[in-house]
Amino acid sequence: MGLNRGVSIVGAGMTRFHNKLHADKTGREIFVEAALDAAESVDHGFRFRDAEALFIGNFTSDVFEGQGHTAAVMADWLGINPTPAYRIEDACASSGAALNLGVMTIASGMADVVIVGGVEKMSGLTTDQVTDALALAADTSFETSVGFTFPSIYAAMASAYFKKYNTTWDQLAAVTIKNHRNCVLNPKAQFQSDIIATGQKMGEKSGRVFKDEMDFLRSDLNPVISSPLKLFDCCPVSDGAATIILAANEVARKYTDSPVNIIGMGQASDTIALHSRPDFTTLRAAVKASEYAYKMAEVTPKSIQVADVHDCFTIAELVALEDLGFFPKGQGGKATEEGRTALNGELPINPDGGLKAKGHPVGATGAAMAYEMFKQLRGQANKHQVKGAEVGLIHNVGAAGASVAVQIYRRG
Ligand code: COA
Repeated sequence: MGLNRGVSIVGAGMTRFHNKLHADKTGREIFVEAALDAAESVDHGFRFRDAEALFIGNFTSDVFEGQGHTAAVMADWLGINPTPAYRIEDACASSGAALNLGVMTIASGMADVVIVGGVEKMSGLTTDQVTDALALAADTSFETSVGFTFPSIYAAMASAYFKKYNTTWDQLAAVTIKNHRNCVLNPKAQFQSDIIATGQKMGEKSGRVFKDEMDFLRSDLNPVISSPLKLFDCCPVSDGAATIILAANEVARKYTDSPVNIIGMGQASDTIALHSRPDFTTLRAAVKASEYAYKMAEVTPKSIQVADVHDCFTIAELVALEDLGFFPKGQGGKATEEGRTALNGELPINPDGGLKAKGHPVGATGAAMAYEMFKQLRGQANKHQVKGAEVGLIHNVGAAGASVAVQIYRRG
């Protein structure tokens, strides 16, 4: 199993993720901003016309913006039409899947250079409308029709996890605290406040003082969204885009002296409806996709030095830590509480703040994870740099695990 020829990332860009900053822009304008940032990151220069294909990860610009046929629109705005342009929709794993297809296109010999983008403009709708739009990625026959939304689906996973491993919500709070500590070091993140500062700010409004992060997170200022998940267990609604420039190994050095090589990748699907799964505390597609990726890369979980995992809800990060083989079953929460996944821990997870605090414009998230690894493995992540990281992994989940894309990277 492997690629017919090697593929590298030679450039990467992204917008800041935010719920208000891009309110006056269209999705295409946000995407162009990320694409220009990517082109600028290419050390020896890059013209969009160098790309022989475009892959766009986008969940539902149709519903969010009333605009379908997204790939052709984005190609137009890059000025590269006519070109082979494809839109990939795998819910929140759309741009992770687009990355895999971009790599396969180059490995097959169909192209030497490919642009992969991810974009979502969500803030034009109310939270209720966004919730309904996102629920299109759940099972409409068995879940949304009886009132399930994504917060409640992940809440069911959290309840099952607590019961199976005899743990509590405190372990979820440890994920929130860590990811908010990281986001303040990342200028592209939506939130720029750790939980201590957030507690102080929100407490001031009601004349309250919280003694520490847990005191605030346990308070009614962190309301329940779907029990046991509270507001700060959820990712926010976000707008944003990320763009990755992929090149065959043999042409990569034309663009940069420090490419990041894709050494493994995997993709898997699963039944959408949770009731059809034997176990709510693991995502079978994540296990399968990572097995493919580890095998192709000829590495084990122990080789990974930094990872961006899909923490759309805090419980998802704990499940990911275990599905990816980083920690034994039921131990992800304890590892997080002990600081083992912190920026200075043995395996830093979501150094950019993760979906929880960096934001989650759903179709853009996989590409934004690849952006983060490009920066980390080239030593360009500035304040949230993981020291000496050479091998990194991304884990991008669609909905509640019905699609999962994994990629493993090594500094070139
Ligand atoms: N974490 C922390 N704070 C959040 C937040 C989050 N997830 N979502 C919103 N806030 C903050 C806002 O910044 C705002 O603060 P401000 O008044 O200081 O600006 C305040 O809470 C109210 O924001 P608002 O947008 O009105 O919140 P809401 O109640 O409408 O939405 C959620 C909150 C949790 C329901 C919404 O963020 C959500 O649906 N998240 C999940 C998205 C999702 O399911 N994605 C796909 C995953 S599979």
